[in-house]
Amino acid sequence: MPDAAPDALPDALPDVVSDVVPGGDAMSRLTVRDLSVVLDGRPVLSEVGLDVRDGGWLAVIGANGAGKSTLLRALAGVLPYGGDVLIDDTPVRRLRHRDRARLLAYAPQTPALPVDMTVFDYALLGRTPYIPYLGREGRCDREVTASVLERLDLSRLASRPLGRLSGGERQRVVLARALAQQAPVLLLDEPTTALDLGHQQQVLELVDRLRLADGLTVVTTLHDLSLAGQYADAMMLLSAGRVAASGVPAEVLTEELIAEHFEARVRVGTGPAGRPEVHLERP
Ligand SMILES: Nc1ncnc2c1ncn2[C@@H]1O[C@H](COP(=O)(O)OP(=O)(O)O)[C@@H](O)[C@H]1O
Ligand SMILES: [Mg+2]
Repeated sequence: MPDAAPDALPDALPDVVSDVVPGGDAMSRLTVRDLSVVLDGRPVLSEVGLDVRDGGWLAVIGANGAGKSTLLRALAGVLPYGGDVLIDDTPVRRLRHRDRARLLAYAPQTPALPVDMTVFDYALLGRTPYIPYLGREGRCDREVTASVLERLDLSRLASRPLGRLSGGERQRVVLARALAQQAPVLLLDEPTTALDLGHQQQVLELVDRLRLADGLTVVTTLHDLSLAGQYADAMMLLSAGRVAASGVPAEVLTEELIAEHFEARVRVGTGPAGRPEVHLERP
């Protein structure tokens, strides 16, 4: 993929984010208490607690296999779990599927995509919780979908089948579907791994704008620690399925914690706005 064109950069994004996700009542706080997940008889998450304020951005970090994706899948309700997941004061497990989908949107790390479906129709699936049973999508659903595709630089691919996209394009389409859902809580599993630099910035800036404009509550896993530290206002380090550290980025991104939990030698500097920057150092 070529370097990002100038119009892919966040400064060029039109100020119409409210078209994408409505404001006002979108605020929601996410609370998790004593969450546990067992897969194949093995505990994969234990005693996980977290609290993301209205409009907060929590980045979950941790080595491969630490349980990050499992945590997001549990929060999204696609895995059985023990403990409580609450949006405001509502236990998510008590919600009907459709109501849950209006509150919580989830973009998985590696979703199975129907190869023959077009980009537009796939993103439109995000509107399912608003379309009446046995009904068809309305104009508003198509407009929201088109607007999200536009924001993610995907309009020209709208009629392309998913089987004929690059990895980065597929990843943005999965994000488009989640954004089209207009839920106040957004769960994104490694949303930038397959993206070139320009599109990483575009996606994270878009999510940040939605968060600031509309109070979206965001939980992402991000394996680029500096990127996580730049965007998130809170961080949680998972290690072997347990919370090893949590707090503001500077409390979690320390040389000691990274050495211990990633077995990596790094130097942590201070970037713009006092945010930590993590640099790999050769042993
Ligand atoms: N469906 C599954 N059945 C059994 N074990 C699983 C399953 N999915 C993931 N795991 C295991 O759970 C652990 C955490 O996986 P995951 O949450 O994907 O880690 P991360 O996203 O942090 O890399 C790993 O040891 C993984 O092998
Ligand atoms: Mg993962």
